[in-house]
Amino acid sequence: MKKTLAALACLLGLALLTMPSSCYYDNEEDLYGPGTGNCDTTTIRYSVEVKQILAANCNNCHLPGGSTYSGIPFETHAQFQEVALNGKLVDRINNQAAPMPQTGLMDKCSRQKLEAWVNAGAPNN
Ligand code: HEC
Repeated sequence: MKKTLAALACLLGLALLTMPSSCYYDNEEDLYGPGTGNCDTTTIRYSVEVKQILAANCNNCHLPGGSTYSGIPFETHAQFQEVALNGKLVDRINNQAAPMPQTGLMDKCSRQKLEAWVNAGAPNN
């Protein structure tokens, strides 16, 4: 009974949040390899895809003029690579308790793209 309730709660969470981390470790890349579904993660370049995601979701805080720029700037590749390689980037973009951006997790595909880039060693490509 308890299990059924938990499963129901999870399903409800699924319907409401689309991706509750408590239900399922949702990493499509690990499960199926890159480029499955509608999310193409085969070519992720810092100069193109990564910068687009940053521009759309992070720049108003982490880039010049942004509220966090003085403390945590993501202006150069080296600056962004640091949080990529020390694990903070992948943690925070998937951390529902302390999400980046602060307003809530990005869509799954944007997160998968950043993760693919991190897994490739966060190159300056
Ligand atoms: C509304 C402003 C805002 C936006 C938008 C935002 N951030 Fe942040 N970010 C912050 C602040 C403030 C901190 C420092 C406090 C904290 O860790 O929560 C931070 C901290 C972080 C950290 C932890 C760095 C460290 O050294 O501890 C990472 C990683 C990060 N942000 C990544 C991102 C990414 C990636 C995006 C876009 C997908 C993003 N942030 C969008 C304001 C923002």
